[in-house]
This record gives sequence, C-alpha cells and structure tokens, in this order.
Amino acid sequence: MKKILVTGGCGFIGSHTIVDLVENNYEVICIDNNSRSNAAMLNGVEKILNRKVKNYKVDLCNFDDTHAVFQENPGITGIIHFAAYKAVGESVEKPLLYFENNLTSLVNILKCAEEFKVPHFVFSSSCTVYGNPDAMIVTEETPQKPAESPYGATKQMGERIVEDAVKASGLKAILLRYFNPVGAHPSINIGELPIGRPANLVPAITQTAIGKLPMMQVFGTDYDTRDGSCIRDFIHVCDIAHAHTLALDFLVAEKNTNACEIFNLGTGDGYTVLEAIKAFEEVSGVKLNYKLGPRRAGDVIAIYANNNKAKKSLLWNPKYGIRDMLDTAWKWELKLQNEGFGS
Ligand code: WQD
Repeated sequence: MKKILVTGGCGFIGSHTIVDLVENNYEVICIDNNSRSNAAMLNGVEKILNRKVKNYKVDLCNFDDTHAVFQENPGITGIIHFAAYKAVGESVEKPLLYFENNLTSLVNILKCAEEFKVPHFVFSSSCTVYGNPDAMIVTEETPQKPAESPYGATKQMGERIVEDAVKASGLKAILLRYFNPVGAHPSINIGELPIGRPANLVPAITQTAIGKLPMMQVFGTDYDTRDGSCIRDFIHVCDIAHAHTLALDFLVAEKNTNACEIFNLGTGDGYTVLEAIKAFEEVSGVKLNYKLGPRRAGDVIAIYANNNKAKKSLLWNPKYGIRDMLDTAWKWELKLQNEGFGS
C-alpha cells in the first residue's frame, strides 16, 4: 500500500481525510501537535476503520522532530499538509503567530519532502486566497485580491512556497482550495471540534441550538445580496476528504500536466447565512435563537466555486447537499452533548 503522511490528521478535515484514504487502500501516518486539535479524534477514526492509525505528536515547527518521523518511516509516497492555524479573527489579533506557525511548518515539511524524495504533495489551501473577488463565482484562474486577514495571507504565501518548491525540486503538488467545509462523517464518530467560542457559522448554529451558546448573531444583513446576508459555498467535509484521495490518485497516476495543479473544492451552490439558518431549523426542528447584528470585519460578501476543473480532472462529484451537511453537524453536536468527546 502507498504510504501517506497526513499532517494535522487529528483536525476536522484531516481526520475525515484519513478515513477516506484508508478506505481507499492507502496506508496513513498522522502527525499532529494537538495545539488546536484533540488526539482522541483518532479514536473515532479508528472506530470507523476498525484499525489503528499510527500517530506522532510532533510540532512541525521543530525541524529535527519532523525529520525524525521521516527517518523512522521510509518509503512515504505522499504528504497531505493540513497542519495550520485557521481562525480568521485570531490571525488579525496575532499575525506573527500565524506567519511563524503556518509558514515555518510548511517550509519544514517541504524540506523533508525534498530530502526524503517524497514525490507527491497536497496542500490544504482555501477560497480565502481570492480575497474579495470581483465576481461571486470564482475559477482557479480568478485573480487573487489582497487577503482579508493574516490567515488568508498565509494561504496565499503558502501556495507560492509550494509552487516554487516543486519547480526547484521535481516534486509534484496539488493545491486544494476549500470553500466552507461543514458537517460530520455519517457515522457521527468524528466531526468538528471548535476550541472555545466557534468563529465559523455552522458550529455557532449548532452550539446555539443545543444551548452551549445563549444566542448567535448574523453578522450583517445590509449586503447587496438576495436577503442582505453573506453568501457562501458550504461543502460537506466528507466530499472535501474524498477530493484529497482523488488528488493523490491523480498525482500517483502522473495525470498532472503541471508540476503544481490547483483545484477549487466547493459545491458551486451559494447559500446566504439566513438561508443556512432556515435550512438548519427545518432539518433539526429547533428554532434558532439569533439576532441580526453588524457586519464582521474582513468578511467577503459573496463567494462560491466554479468546480468544473475538479469534476473534470479529479472525477470529483460532491454528493452531500446542504441538508445533509446541517443534519450531520447537528447529530454530531447532539452526540457531543449526550456522550461527551473521545468515547
Ligand atoms: C461564514 C459566514 C459570517 C459566524 C473562514 C475562512 C475559510 C475557512 C472557513 C478554514 C460569514 C457569517 C459566521 C457567526 C455569522 N477557514 N457568520 N455568525 O469566514 O466564510 O471562512 O472559515 O478552513 O478559509 O476564511 O466562514 O463560517 O466564519 O463565516 O453570521 O456566528 O457566516 O459573517 O458571512 P468564512 P465563517
């Protein structure tokens, strides 16, 4: 089996991707320093897979510790690099923390990839690299505007670092630009685990609905959209996960025409914040306690994906709709409430 190193594998998208990789006959090694994740998420992964996952609690900002993992595991065929801080608001308050962590870890993992001749590299990027695009529907060729946050800047810089590294080294890479990953694995054994008060919409909705939060706000209803609230392309985390497996298949089969290929991962459908709340209320049967508040600094008004390239080249077809996303997110929140985490 082809051996794949997954950094940040205890995280939301990382854990779901490990499940998909193993189910598609890849061997997986996880690296995560658990600074923003919980190693117990792997309990849920192992429950789904009915097998153990090799995990190293290592900080990728420590080159020697990272290097040791490669020395101990010869023959790694590919790397999927998720490990990074990703809270937009926090990045505005602590930019240097974000530049140091997100870029140092990336450079270290790329240095090891070069030294140990790991041929395939998949980078976790984000639609945030588009900034506030002129057109709502973006393709991979849409020109990037200035990032709205230091977090977004680390993704723009990260893409450039990967592109330059592969040009110099013969590595082959894919940049996957996620839109808004939401939901949970249908088994409800793994899901999103925000640390502290959730910044993102769907966990804010589910935590408010279950009573962890007394109320939530809709950040802005005076935008030039059909109902005044922002538009986003919500995509199920399992569809995002499967795209990583397909991206590796694509690289391993040497189908990439360029050293570094870019793919948008979104459904291509845009929902407003208020529409997402309404859909949640219908799916859960819970009346959500929210108020209409002021805009949030740094928010993009409307963005959703033209995903034709991923559909055509990766043969990727997102299969979950908005109701599945909200239903699995809600069921995961209920499980956390009823059973706790890590069981
Ligand atoms: C979506 C919409 C908010 C919370 C960011 C990153 C992106 C990715 C996902 C990592 C916005 C509104 C939110 C709330 C609200 N990060 N909202 N009330 O900002 O589109 O994307 O997170 O993978 O890279 O840029 O996601 O879920 O924070 O916000 O009204 O309590 O929901 O204003 O319009 P965002 P989000």
